[in-house]
Amino acid sequence: MSIATPKDGLAWITGASTGIGAALVAQLVGEGWTVVATARGADKLEALAAAHPGRVIAAPGDITDAPAMAALVARVEAESGREIALAVLNAGAWQEMGAADFDLVAFHHQIEVNLGGTAACLAPLMQRMMARRSGQIAIVASVAGYRGLPRGGAYGATKAALIALAESLKFDLDKAGVTMNLINPGFVRTPMTAVNEFPMPFLLETDDAARRISRGLKRSGFEITFPWQLVWPLKLIQILPARLFFALLRRAGG
Ligand SMILES: NC(=O)c1ccc[n+]([C@@H]2O[C@H](COP(=O)([O-])OP(=O)(O)OC[C@H]3O[C@@H](n4cnc5c(N)ncnc54)[C@H](OP(=O)(O)O)[C@@H]3O)[C@@H](O)[C@H]2O)c1
Repeated sequence: MSIATPKDGLAWITGASTGIGAALVAQLVGEGWTVVATARGADKLEALAAAHPGRVIAAPGDITDAPAMAALVARVEAESGREIALAVLNAGAWQEMGAADFDLVAFHHQIEVNLGGTAACLAPLMQRMMARRSGQIAIVASVAGYRGLPRGGAYGATKAALIALAESLKFDLDKAGVTMNLINPGFVRTPMTAVNEFPMPFLLETDDAARRISRGLKRSGFEITFPWQLVWPLKLIQILPARLFFALLRRAGG
């Protein structure tokens, strides 16, 4: 499996305007990458590009627009004369909901952005990287995709689907010389989690999360997940039989 380096080409980060994505832009620029930054908010991307002159290419766009993502990848590679060697598909949306306040519009929005949008970015990337027999793609899912957690049904469903998608595609990508990584963060302090009123154990800052992601991308393992204090209990919960799982979570207060 190949680990992409700045010599191999550009890095592309979606969801680059805030939170984990913006911190990862700064981290990768610091490591010598030129980073293509995508999100819908062009102003924030322009500010990032201005903060890192010549090292950040602002490429605004909506990841749910599949033709626009295919065009963006083609345009960036043609205009820069460089290939996208590393892609971190990080853009995402979260809205808490349970059974009583189940919101179909918010449900479909999360499916569309987290799952559909990631697929829309994957399609042109995989096609190009497989043809070149090189490249590294990382999908940002979440530890929330390990098991169905209270009030996280819509979001968790999209993240569980992304985990399955990354695992499934890895079989073919391995054969084609393209590296697939799965990133499952625990809680990180970002605009996304600022709305949460529940406790967020072992909450990390974005620069810490970005450092851990960057370290993981350079290792040979498939999954990059942190912090271990949250991940290990969740991995254990993942293998519990349903009866024990529900009893334990109920006792923990749902
Ligand atoms: N924070 C956590 O605790 C945590 C934990 C586990 C996993 N994650 C995952 O990590 C990723 C980043 O989350 P974050 O916490 O950094 O959240 P965030 O600060 O809210 O960032 C989300 C990013 O996605 C972009 N985005 C949203 N919809 C988009 C669309 N349709 N097209 C293009 N870009 C879009 C946003 O920019 P625009 O609004 O300008 O488009 C923003 O740049 C997400 O996939 C999230 O699920 C986060």
